[in-house]
Amino acid sequence: MVSTSTVTTLTIFSFFVCFIELTVSQQISTVDSECTGRWIHIRTLPSRFNLDLLSTCNHYPLTDDLCPYLANHGLGPKTHTRTRSWYRTDPLLLELIFHRRILEYPCLTPDPNLASAVYLPYYAGIDSLRYLYGSDVNSSADHGSDLLSFLTQDSPEIWSRRSGHDHFLVMARPAWDFSQPLTVDPPIWGTSFLERPEFFNLTALTLESRFWPWQEQAVPYPTSFHPHSLPFLESWIRRVRRSRRTSLMLFAGGGGTSSTPNIRRSIRLECTNVTETEPETSSEKIKTCDFVDCSNGICEHDPIRFMRPMLQSSFCLQPPGDTPTRKATFDGIIAGCIPVFFEDQTAKMQYGWHLPEEEFSEFSVTIAKEDVVFRGVRIADVLMSIPKEEVARMRERVIEMMPRVMYRRHGASMGLMNKKDAVDIAIDGVLQKISSRG
Ligand SMILES: *[C@@H]1O[C@H](CO)[C@@H](O)[C@H](O)[C@H]1NC(C)=O
Ligand SMILES: *[C@@H]1O[C@H](CO)[C@@H](O)[C@H](O)[C@H]1NC(C)=O
Ligand SMILES: *[C@@H]1O[C@H](CO)[C@@H](O)[C@H](O)[C@H]1NC(C)=O
Repeated sequence: MVSTSTVTTLTIFSFFVCFIELTVSQQISTVDSECTGRWIHIRTLPSRFNLDLLSTCNHYPLTDDLCPYLANHGLGPKTHTRTRSWYRTDPLLLELIFHRRILEYPCLTPDPNLASAVYLPYYAGIDSLRYLYGSDVNSSADHGSDLLSFLTQDSPEIWSRRSGHDHFLVMARPAWDFSQPLTVDPPIWGTSFLERPEFFNLTALTLESRFWPWQEQAVPYPTSFHPHSLPFLESWIRRVRRSRRTSLMLFAGGGGTSSTPNIRRSIRLECTNVTETEPETSSEKIKTCDFVDCSNGICEHDPIRFMRPMLQSSFCLQPPGDTPTRKATFDGIIAGCIPVFFEDQTAKMQYGWHLPEEEFSEFSVTIAKEDVVFRGVRIADVLMSIPKEEVARMRERVIEMMPRVMYRRHGASMGLMNKKDAVDIAIDGVLQKISSRG
């Protein structure tokens, strides 16, 4: 195992290094008016900020061995040998996936003075594991000190040119994990990276933002679907359209087993109740509720468990859990399963760049969780009352959203590159956010 990991890591090292050199040398000769106002400089960081963090992939506390998931530049191993688009992706590795993808960005410049934005290839979420769960738990206020000293000592003019306003990085966890006030002693939860005044001006792409976001913008959780050419995306979309939706609604997740009232518990009760009381009838009959038990993380790297049921269900229930957002929101969209939200913090107030807020009611349903938990509203009744044609229209809108939340594979075909995916939209958003600061 150890030797396999070492080989994996070495392979990744050499891929990255070769790629960086290739891209930069190509870009110097590219002068393109389409790049006006869009140039990005990738800051060269010492390897302790990125690649070294991968070489210890099997030593991180409280997580699985991360090593297998580094394969394919962070997309993870393929789900089975013959697939071209499906991977066992760990969302934490978005830092790696994004890094690999931005190397293909057409407007890279080696000159920071020409750049509208400066990308920091720091794997902040992976580095945070030692503070969140490991030996540095009592010094979580230090997260970011090392990066800050580098930025302020090595070519300090790059960082100071715009007081950090033009710098951005990916932190592939909820922003809560980086928002421990510096004054809390002893620490309760999280590092203080986003609480350091020196970092107030930078932009962080996180998987979830706080209720009052400051530096961060939430971007979609990576799913397992990473096509590399248009025909593969199109054939998947055809499959999604054709799929027989044999159940009204689906919940794929864990929790809800405690006796205190909460939305997951209500869903579990409603689902098990209808599933058990409904008489077995002919195959024509639509099942009211399908339930995929994902307790103890068993679904995490196993998309087959939930993608098939999601393809067979009209609606996918997306209740909040430990935090308001869920990766399953995006798995469901990839499956053409209309999301049902129970609070706006799950998606509407998070992913405004990727899922336009004003269009939410066209591709999703919102039912207030209080109505379900305390006022006896049955989710199935609400969903059954939506006319069939309206459901079909909503599904088409979900399918339109699919490319926007998907992370296509690096090295994709030109045809697919013409469709904006989650990385393209995140980069557009970053550039716009930075330029709006003047
Ligand atoms: C962190 O501090 C607490 C309380 O002072 C202590 O019990 C614990 O052992 C410390 N943990 C580590 C990893 O040093
Ligand atoms: C953040 O930007 C403002 C100007 O917009 C500047 O006054 C301030 O010093 C900056 N903060 C840091 C820590 O650089
Ligand atoms: C379960 O179903 C029965 C019969 O349809 C109904 O009376 C009861 O209220 C349901 N319980 C829950 C928790 O939905």
